[in-house]
Amino acid sequence: MPDFALSPEQESLRDMARKFARTEMAPHAAECDRTPRFPEEIYRKAYDLGLMNLNVPTEYGGTGLGLFDQCLLVEELAYGCGGMTTSVIANCLALEPILLGGSETQKQRFLTPFCSAYNFASFCLTEPSGGSDAGALKTRARRSGEEYVLDGEKCFITNAPHASLFTVFATVDPALRTRGITAFVVPRSAAGLSTGKDEEKMGHRASSTSTVRFEGVRVPVADRLGEEGEGFSLAMRTLDQTRTPIGALATGIAQAALDHAAGYALKRQSFGKPIGEHQAIQIKLANMAQAVRAARLLTWYAAWTIDRGAKGTLESSIAKCFASDAALHVADEAIQTFGGYGYMKEYPVEKLLRDAKLTQIYEGANEIQRTVIARELLRQYA
Ligand code: CAA
Repeated sequence: MPDFALSPEQESLRDMARKFARTEMAPHAAECDRTPRFPEEIYRKAYDLGLMNLNVPTEYGGTGLGLFDQCLLVEELAYGCGGMTTSVIANCLALEPILLGGSETQKQRFLTPFCSAYNFASFCLTEPSGGSDAGALKTRARRSGEEYVLDGEKCFITNAPHASLFTVFATVDPALRTRGITAFVVPRSAAGLSTGKDEEKMGHRASSTSTVRFEGVRVPVADRLGEEGEGFSLAMRTLDQTRTPIGALATGIAQAALDHAAGYALKRQSFGKPIGEHQAIQIKLANMAQAVRAARLLTWYAAWTIDRGAKGTLESSIAKCFASDAALHVADEAIQTFGGYGYMKEYPVEKLLRDAKLTQIYEGANEIQRTVIARELLRQYA
C-alpha cells in the first residue's frame, strides 16, 4: 500500500536539511543573489553535512540516498535558496553518468577520491549551437592510439569555474547523430581544458555557470564511460534520474512563495481588514496551495517509482515539468499578493520568481519534457 508517512530516519534527514537551509542558506540568500556571490563557506558546510554527493553510494564516499530521500532534502534546501541548491546538487548530475555507465574500476578511481574531499563536478552536454537537440552536439572526440582528442565548446555549465572533474559528451562521428555520442570523464588538470567567465544570470545567482572549452584535450581510452556511441543513452538515463530532484527544487521555491504570501496576507491591511480576508486573495492562496501540494506529490511519486526500479523517463518529466510550471505560477501570485512591494528587491518574492524561471529551462526545457511525456504516453497507447 502507498504510504505518505515518513520514517524516523527520513524525518531526521528532512529536519537536518530544513535547519541548514533556514539557518545557513536563507540568511545569505539575498546578498548572494544581489552581489552575486558563490558562497564557498556554505557549500563547504553542505559537503560536511553530506548534502553534496547524495546519489553516490557510501562505498565510494557519497551519502548513498535513494531518489525519494534526495527529493526530501532538495525541497528543504531550495526553500532556503534555489541558486545555492542548484550548486549543492550539481554533483549528483555530473556523477550520475559514472554511476550508471562506469566500470567498477572507474567508480573507484573517480568517485572515491572525489567524494573524500569538498569538490565540484560538472555535467557537460549543452553547447552554444543547441541545448534541446542534444543529439546534434558538435564537440568532437577523435581516437588517437590509446587516447581520444576532444575539441569543442560547452555552455551553461553549472559550477564549471569551480569544478575539478567534468563528465563530457562528445561525438566520434557527427553523421551518426545520437549513435556517435560518447561519454568521458575529464579532470580539470587536463591540458587544453578551460572555463569561461561566470555568466551574469537572471536568477540562481549564488550558483556559478560558464562555458567549458576543449582544445586538443587528450583523454585516455580508460576514461571513456561505456562504449563508443553509448553516451547519448547514458545522458538520457542520467536525466531520467536527475529531473525528479529538479521537481523537488521547484516545489521548495513554490512552498517558500506560498509561505511568504500567506504571512503577508495575514498582516497587510486594506479596506479595513487583512487582505487575507478578501476573497480575491483567498482564491489565490487556495490555488497556490493546490499547486504546491500537487507538485510535491508528483515529485514524490516519480521518486518512489524510480526507487522501486522503474526507468523513470515519463514520471521524472511529468514531475519536473509540472513542479517548475507550478513554481513560476506560485511565485508570480506571491508577487501579486504583495502588490507593489512584491516587485521590490527589498522583499523576498521577486527572487523566487527569477529562481523559479530556470527550473522550466534547465535539465531539459519544459517543451522537451512535454515531448518526452507525449512520446512515452503514445508508446503506451500504441
Ligand atoms: N533512456 C535511454 N535511452 C534513451 C532515452 C532514455 N530516457 N531517451 C532516448 N534514448 C535513446 C533512444 O532509445 C534512441 O536509441 P536508438 O538509437 O538505439 O534507437 C536514442 O537514445 C535517440 O533517441 P531519440 O530518437 O528519442 O533522440 P532525439 O534526438 O529525438 O532526442 C530528446 C530526444 C528527448 C529531445 C533529447 O535530445 C533531450 O532530452 N533533450 C534535452 C537535453 C537536456 O535535457 N539537456 C539538459 C542539459 S543539463 C542541464 O541543463 C543542467 C545543468 O547544468 C544544471
